Amino acid sequence: MRATTDLDGLGLDDGGHLLVQRALEPLPSGGRLTVTGRHPALRVHLAAWCREHGHRLAADTETSAAGDAGPVEIIKGTAGERRWHDAQRAGTAQGPPDERADPRWGLAARGALVEAGGPPIGAEWTEREHVWADIAPRLYAAAAASQWDPATAVNWTATLDVPKQIDRAVVQLMTYLVENEQAALIIPARLLSQLHPHFREVMQLLATQAADEARHVEVFTRRGLLSGGPLGTSSAGGRASLQTLLAEPDFTTASFLLSVLGEGTFLDLLRFIHEHAPDPVTADVTRLALRDEARHVAFGVSHTAHLVTTDKSYLGVLRQSVERRHAALHDTAGLNSEVFDSLVLLAAGSWEPAAIRRGWQAVRLLQHQMDEGRRRRLAYIGFPDDEAAELSALHTRNFM
Ligand SMILES: [Fe+2]
Ligand SMILES: [Fe+2]
Repeated sequence: MRATTDLDGLGLDDGGHLLVQRALEPLPSGGRLTVTGRHPALRVHLAAWCREHGHRLAADTETSAAGDAGPVEIIKGTAGERRWHDAQRAGTAQGPPDERADPRWGLAARGALVEAGGPPIGAEWTEREHVWADIAPRLYAAAAASQWDPATAVNWTATLDVPKQIDRAVVQLMTYLVENEQAALIIPARLLSQLHPHFREVMQLLATQAADEARHVEVFTRRGLLSGGPLGTSSAGGRASLQTLLAEPDFTTASFLLSVLGEGTFLDLLRFIHEHAPDPVTADVTRLALRDEARHVAFGVSHTAHLVTTDKSYLGVLRQSVERRHAALHDTAGLNSEVFDSLVLLAAGSWEPAAIRRGWQAVRLLQHQMDEGRRRRLAYIGFPDDEAAELSALHTRNFM
């Protein structure tokens, strides 16, 4: 098979090799390409380029009476064919990811033709069912569309006008929220670092989740400091509870404990603080965080339910993760008592005994709603009602 290409005055040092390459592409190994052109060093440059790329010049054109400008005949080598001989596609670009992501695909784009021999990726999660949920692409799109700017989404200049004692309660709650948000940021970031990038939508979703938590840390810190500081307290029991989440090694149990049980419970907590917010800033920051948290919970619930439909025995693994965490936290106080008291005072609105009774009852109702929410999500995942109630009761007193 023969072909020709004309470089006109273009030299190989000016991009002429692109035309040569393009003309060689359809030829089989051994095929001949005649290159014509007027560049004075065309023959010399082509000879060097061919050596580098595994082609050779036809013997009768190695020197020519026509001079160094050509024409020159190239015989296509086998290097190109050999290079892609063992290449394979990294799954298919369109539609859901493959069931199993090959570590040898490394960082290649999903659907790319992967040259053999690159470094394998050291990802821990390479099985689709262990990380996937069908809702992940839609949740990522929703997350990308709903990123808000902390500088403008909250009216930071609104007048606070909050009685000092109530403001201290808000500051204590913000202090508590920040430490929980920090755990909620680190966990998706850690899961992300061990996820095979073939599961692109999950990777993207976890990245937006971490970005959401970064904003929550910011706005809660800012509200906490808005009245001049200092921040409130951090209890050893609360931090111990969060520490167990950080140590959870498995993708699904970490996602289950954090997002289904912890962030699920936080939906009610944030709604409660929002409803009883004594100032517009507190109302804004909790409303904005609540919106993001709903997505985090949706992924946790959908992923866990997805895995259970493919492997019913996973309910046992989830159950054990709750029991293990409960046992680990058995000797800790769980919730910071100052957080609990702050919730009561926030709902009471004053130190009047009748108001405190109302606040107390409101917090009891909140705990009841949190329990109901957890049971509902556990039942959705596939736990029978009695087991859902049992597991909900074992959930950490720290809420997260
Ligand atoms: Fe958050
Ligand atoms: Fe979250």
